[in-house]
Amino acid sequence: MRNIPRISAWSSAVGLAREGFPFIYNRCRRFQSDLFEIKVPFLKVLCMSGPEASRIFYDPERFVRQGAIPKRIQRTLFGEKGVQTLDDAAHRRRKELFMSIMTPENIQRLSDVMHEQWRMAIRKWAGTAGPIILFDELKELLCRAACAWAGVPISESEVKQRAGQFWERVDAFGAVGLRHLRGRKARQQTEDWMRGIILGIREGRITVPEGTSAYVMALHREPDSKPLEAQVAAVELINTVRPIVAIANYIVFAALALHEHPECRNGLQHGGPDDIERFVQEVRRYYPFAPFLGAKVRSAFDWRNVHFPKGAMVLLDVYGTNRHPDTWERPLEFWPDRFRQWDGSAYNFIPQGGGDHYKNHRCAGEWVTIETLKIALTYLTKHMEYTVPPQDLSFKLSRMPTFPRSGFIITQVREKL
Ligand code: HEM
Repeated sequence: MRNIPRISAWSSAVGLAREGFPFIYNRCRRFQSDLFEIKVPFLKVLCMSGPEASRIFYDPERFVRQGAIPKRIQRTLFGEKGVQTLDDAAHRRRKELFMSIMTPENIQRLSDVMHEQWRMAIRKWAGTAGPIILFDELKELLCRAACAWAGVPISESEVKQRAGQFWERVDAFGAVGLRHLRGRKARQQTEDWMRGIILGIREGRITVPEGTSAYVMALHREPDSKPLEAQVAAVELINTVRPIVAIANYIVFAALALHEHPECRNGLQHGGPDDIERFVQEVRRYYPFAPFLGAKVRSAFDWRNVHFPKGAMVLLDVYGTNRHPDTWERPLEFWPDRFRQWDGSAYNFIPQGGGDHYKNHRCAGEWVTIETLKIALTYLTKHMEYTVPPQDLSFKLSRMPTFPRSGFIITQVREKL
């Protein structure tokens, strides 16, 4: 068996806190190895990066998710007993529920709602004298759209608070201390709210359109004919709304990219759907969101002459795979045209996970994310003009999740018809 680089648990804890997103990427470059080990007492932890590693990681014969997601992430970001924690038949059944919502008709319905929300928002911003913090506005815009799409009743007076709670759950995923506690509280608030909606639908007090995620999660029957536990149905309903609010993060990064690459803005203003699509893909490749993913070895195997014992924890480097030299030329540059050459592999470009959307844990909302970003870019480039005043647009790679510090402030918004 081959020896791979090993680092201590202490140095990796310090490295992760200091470096954040590029923690695995930096070590793989330094060791000239796509694989290294973190020495943790009583647990083998292997970190791996690149398209070949990702192909292995998404082989369900080799890995399971049960026990791989830290409790602190389930208590904030995901909730407990959700699809992310399931394996095998239970996972396939649950994932089918999500994918049954992601039909072209349903995605079109979401697009229609998004268009309407963008038109209303631009009109409002154009009538606002002061500065607009795009990130805050987008969380609300997306929360309104996501709830309308998912069949979740929400009043206008509730939007700000609920959008804030969904974001606090996302904001807690790499946090300790106060941010983590805020995420826990927001989890409870959103789960209580959604459980009430699930029960309301089941008891006939709330009517929601067929095919919406509220309808699907509330009324689904398991093979034993029982409905999902109300708490689990609430967790899964949230799994279709919260991440749409999180797309605000990518949209703000897209606005940053337009600002820093005026040649791209110009191209998109006069370009077609393919130009927008390549830009969207580059935003998802270049700007960090998910740092790495964890799974446990199902049964022992060897890969590249390295032994993976049963129960070992394996971390797949999402950040580094999206920059891996085997796939990406000039990976540290923002360059949308690279997607003219991309081979469409399910393993070398994994901002929302890899493999198959139906069979693996790959993000159920990837198509929705791409569509939402395309709509946002169309409005940002073709239907509005704005000024970007001086502000702190830097973002910290050591913060997870990360976004421009100022939240991307715009002023003097003009509507372009
Ligand atoms: C899973 C990222 C948007 C629903 C995931 C995973 C990642 C991810 C990295 C884990 C993949 C894995 O474990 O292998 C993102 C990012 C998003 C986003 C960066 C945009 C900001 C969405 C949207 C939805 C969604 C819009 C739904 C409307 C899900 C679900 C899973 C998931 C249900 C669990 C899938 C499973 O375990 O089988 N996402 N996602 N996500 N995502 Fe997303």
